[in-house]
Amino acid sequence: MKFFIDTANLEQIKEAQALGVLDGVTTNPSLMAKEGISGQANVIAHYKAICAIVDDNVSAEVIATDYEGMIAEGNALAALDNKIVVKIPMIKDGIKALKYFSDKGIRTNCTLIFTAGQALLAAKAGASYVSPFLGRLDDIGADSFGLIEDIRLIFDNYGYETQILAASIRNSVHIVECAKIGADVMTGPLSSILGLLKHPLTDSGLAQFLADHKKAAEAEAAK
Ligand code: E4P
Repeated sequence: MKFFIDTANLEQIKEAQALGVLDGVTTNPSLMAKEGISGQANVIAHYKAICAIVDDNVSAEVIATDYEGMIAEGNALAALDNKIVVKIPMIKDGIKALKYFSDKGIRTNCTLIFTAGQALLAAKAGASYVSPFLGRLDDIGADSFGLIEDIRLIFDNYGYETQILAASIRNSVHIVECAKIGADVMTGPLSSILGLLKHPLTDSGLAQFLADHKKAAEAEAAK
């Protein structure tokens, strides 16, 4: 399973990269705004800064919602660095844009996926990734893991190479459940990745090991 971090915060991206388990980054206009990044030049500089930290897979979302606008923006983003994956919303012109970029060999991430039908359409258009939003489905009481299962089944039925990027991940349980179902990638906050580390028996076990080691060392020194 690939691990992406879902943030535009450079410090958190650096921290995740330093762990040695990071495969990429996803951003969206809200995450960029949260970091106070606005204006063409600043946005471009920020994407370049992210690309300088990670090895690959930096999803950069277009703002345009018409075909020509998405093509112009997507081409400009892709030209910044070959680590860029152009993020396209699940709308009618977005499907056309996915096909255009797929034909051009430019990687895409189709975002705001909430149904298996949307994922199927994006895969047919040649999307490299589809991003079903788990947390937002949970928020409205819908079956988010069922959606991942359905998309997995459909993609496997037809051999689609489009990767399932489980997005809107909120915690480490989400990550583990998605891994069990067979999502190819997950994107979540740093806290969800670090949450995988935690178990109280790990902490108490380590404390006991260190205490026993210290006791034995003290006994040895006292001889
Ligand atoms: C996906 O690429 C989105 O950036 C993201 O996962 C949305 O998550 P949220 O629902 O926590 O905003």
